[in-house]
Amino acid sequence: MYFIANWKMFGTLNSLNSLHKVVKFFKTFKKNKALKIIYCPPNTLIRPMSKKLKNSHLIVGAQNCHQNETFGALTGYVNSYMLKNVGAKYVIIGHSENRRAGETNKLINLKIKSALKSRLKVILCIGETLQEKRKKVTKQILKKQIRLGLNKIKNRSDILIAYEPVWSIGTGLIPKSNELYETINFIKKNYKKYKVLYGGSVNPKNINQLKLINNLDGYLIGGASQNSNKFIDIIKKSYN
Ligand code: 13P
Repeated sequence: MYFIANWKMFGTLNSLNSLHKVVKFFKTFKKNKALKIIYCPPNTLIRPMSKKLKNSHLIVGAQNCHQNETFGALTGYVNSYMLKNVGAKYVIIGHSENRRAGETNKLINLKIKSALKSRLKVILCIGETLQEKRKKVTKQILKKQIRLGLNKIKNRSDILIAYEPVWSIGTGLIPKSNELYETINFIKKNYKKYKVLYGGSVNPKNINQLKLINNLDGYLIGGASQNSNKFIDIIKKSYN
């Protein structure tokens, strides 16, 4: 199971102080369990976090990258090569917060290609808006996001898919269990061999419901992942 922490635009050097709790927890809990914990902090914390987590088997990733893996006169941007250079092993691409700001499926495809060239593993985010859900076009939307996002990409072993319904992010809402099961099944049937995660308001309470959905390969966790105790609680409960 994957537990991926997306810190979004939160965190300073002080935020690294409570990571030792998760490191300690992981050491004792990991036994007999195929458990992967990946932290995606803001770019400013990738290097210090990688140093802090050295030898802990906790992994560090990034939240986005530019589509060029080469250097360039692009003020304010960071490419996949630079992220890899400071310790990132993964990168989230296509998060709905960035799609909303103008990231297209075509651009997402270029970003994924560049990340793979830099040997970063990719967490591709997909998900429908509330309006699309109401119109009952979720499956078409997801299919399009995956088809265009992964266009002409052969290397599938380095890509995870994170299903994050836009209406569930930061709202406290999660899909009905049968609907979520069906959606994950749909993705897995159409795109075989991908691991599929769920993201959107995952917290220590609703994990008891989510863990019963047995086709999930893990979770992409926003708000709750910034608190080490809550993050640990989610992981523990999902195995209970
Ligand atoms: P929340 O867990 O805060 O709803 O965020 C989910 C998310 O967007 C993770 O990428």
